[in-house]
Amino acid sequence: MLEDTSFAIHPGQKKQMKDTNYKDIGNVLEVVKTDNGASVKTESGTLFIKFYRDDIVRFVFNPFGETTLKSSPALITDGEKTEVSVSEKNGEILLTSAKLQVYLDKSPLRITVTDPDGRLLVKEGAKGMGYKESKEIICFKEMHPEDHFYGFGEKTGFLDKRGEKMTMWNSDVYAPHNPETDSLYQSIPYFMTLRNGFAHGVFLDNTFKTTFDFRSEEANYSFSAEGGQINYYVMAGPTPKDVLEQYTYLTGRIPIPPKWAIGYHQSRYSYETEQEVRELANNFIEKGIPLDVIYLDIHYMDGYRVFTFDKERFPNPKQLVEDLRAQGIRIVPIVDPGVKEDPEYYIYQEGIRGDFFCKYIEGNIYFGDVWPGNSAFPDFTNSKVRRWWGEKHKFYSDLGIEGIWNDMNEPAVFNETKSMDVKVMHDNDGDPRTHRELHNIYGLMMGEATYSGMKKQLRGNRPFLLTRAGYSGVQRYAAVWTGDNRSFWEHLQMSIPMIMNLGLSGIPFAGADVGGFAHDSNGELLARWTQVGAFTPYFRNHSALGFARQEPWSFGEKYEKIIKRYIELRYKWLPHFYSLFAEAHYTGTPVMRPLMMEYQKDENTYNLSDQFMVGDNVIIAPIMQPAVQHRAVYLPEGNWVDYWTEEVYKGGKHHLVRADLNTLPIFVKQGSILAHGPVKRSTEIKNEKLTLHLYYGEYTSSSFKLYDDDGSTFEYEQGGYLIKTFDVKCEKDQISLTISNEGRYKPAWKEIELVVHGAHENIALFINGEEKYLQKKGDYTLKVTL
Ligand code: GLC
Repeated sequence: MLEDTSFAIHPGQKKQMKDTNYKDIGNVLEVVKTDNGASVKTESGTLFIKFYRDDIVRFVFNPFGETTLKSSPALITDGEKTEVSVSEKNGEILLTSAKLQVYLDKSPLRITVTDPDGRLLVKEGAKGMGYKESKEIICFKEMHPEDHFYGFGEKTGFLDKRGEKMTMWNSDVYAPHNPETDSLYQSIPYFMTLRNGFAHGVFLDNTFKTTFDFRSEEANYSFSAEGGQINYYVMAGPTPKDVLEQYTYLTGRIPIPPKWAIGYHQSRYSYETEQEVRELANNFIEKGIPLDVIYLDIHYMDGYRVFTFDKERFPNPKQLVEDLRAQGIRIVPIVDPGVKEDPEYYIYQEGIRGDFFCKYIEGNIYFGDVWPGNSAFPDFTNSKVRRWWGEKHKFYSDLGIEGIWNDMNEPAVFNETKSMDVKVMHDNDGDPRTHRELHNIYGLMMGEATYSGMKKQLRGNRPFLLTRAGYSGVQRYAAVWTGDNRSFWEHLQMSIPMIMNLGLSGIPFAGADVGGFAHDSNGELLARWTQVGAFTPYFRNHSALGFARQEPWSFGEKYEKIIKRYIELRYKWLPHFYSLFAEAHYTGTPVMRPLMMEYQKDENTYNLSDQFMVGDNVIIAPIMQPAVQHRAVYLPEGNWVDYWTEEVYKGGKHHLVRADLNTLPIFVKQGSILAHGPVKRSTEIKNEKLTLHLYYGEYTSSSFKLYDDDGSTFEYEQGGYLIKTFDVKCEKDQISLTISNEGRYKPAWKEIELVVHGAHENIALFINGEEKYLQKKGDYTLKVTL
């Protein structure tokens, strides 16, 4: 194509002028106080201002008709009763809650949002809210030189999105994934601003194609949508964790995953036969490499028809699932939305008879080409269709399957636009809308259908769902993997800020294909990538048809040993990870965090894209280049202990650290606690013993919440959990540990071994006020029966 040559920048190819011809929403004509805010009449429509809580306020304006408070399916709440006062002073309207102040300039209408101390969150200046004849809506806000921007879901590039312009339109991008690739599979039209160490959030709940522009103007950023209402929320912060709590109050949090879902997963496009799957499982067992899940990619099906098995390749799936399960391994099959057009295929028949497929306004079904060939697509915006699709999963649950992998649900179609015709209509439960409007929620609604269906079938057991596409709120149903990356070192590097920003977007259960999906991987890359994968929330090795195999042993013994070591390390850390998943469930705080989340006043962390934190006290600084054994590591204030060597590093500065191929640099903050279990070959094996590692450091303190439950049911929603809070206070020659318990779950482990790192023989240890004596066994240890 000519566009792919230098012709693209031929002087004759003038760039289209940007259409800046938008209309302002005009002056305020009247303000009426409402229950949780105000209704503001302007020259071009009505603006609703509604507080959802003291720290969350919503702005809705429809320039083309009646403004409505209807939300997208991202929202799980209508908010709570909030005390709001409305007053007028010097011609300016002021709305106040306990945590926010909204000022309205009347001519023209301009919004300023501050905290009660007057600290600026969002401010409109020369430009405010507007619209275009094309039905586009746009909002401008002032951008300050010290602003940094995070979130936006799944984007390429670095952690801080200042200077970027990003579009939200769920897209199947096989290649390329590089800094120029904008829309990927997820659309999360939300971001967090960090300004002078304080954070606040903005969520534009608009399902049309949206654009967030931090590039085009120096002093303003903008967010816009191709249609629909101006509909955004401002969240007060002031810490990044507060913003996540506020955003996930609106859009929901992850259920606690089944324990098996946070173990190691092995996938390949495809393990093509039952025999191959059995051999794979045996290989893991023989080699003693832990494993919890094997995926079945599209080859398991009969002609890629979902809800079927190919009888020749997989003659007895039930037996396969059962046998593997006895070895502690689960099977997760892929389920795509496209239903093959085939009058002799039961799902297609049911879909036609039930009127479940997406159609044009004229009544004809939309067909698109995907793996099975010409296919119809269930209209997941219709609750009847979601129920039907959910019930169909009995096919899998009857075989003993507890996890599903949703792919191609942007939806992807093999055509020029890569997706469904935007003119297709969705039923939307009796409020029909075009695909142009609802494209971005197709994957979310498929996720709801699948998760709810599986939850019902599993009768009390937790389902696991993995999805490629989503919209805000997808975390309620699914873990997210970042799609078709490649076995490039650059893609390993890119995955870190991408997963961190997913975490900052309310999606804590995320990960990339370890080893890279397309392209040929190699031993060194797979070893380094597995080191990273062991510490990302979702940990799956997946690779594509036609490229080098990349199971842990594929590149010889030297690499296998290292890869095994890090998969084992993941299992050792599982009690710690599980506790962090529980934290994400309760608060929205992600498992894998950028350093800025814990050190929001430290500028060195603001765009740190090649290091991450696991919880609040561990820094991972992976090596992500070939033949490199050294790297610079930034450690924020405090003292940090090398997990492997116990060497103590001073924080607040950079260090040059050596890490041969065997070593992933891990640093633990002094004063804090890690929870470890034994290495085991599957999460199926209960932890009989737990080890707590306490890293002593003079005058340090921390608090760690160890969480446990049965790992498989929803009993935790009814008090069937255990939270053990460990408050650590280290002084000179003394450690005080205060332990408190909550919940009624009785874990398999009865004993905790406490290992104190960095202690010396004269150290006094008090547990709940009682003096205990440490024994010297390399480190100083103590067995505590709890
Ligand atoms: C898509 C998915 C990939 C999968 C393949 C075949 O490319 O992103 O993970 O293996 O389809 O189903």
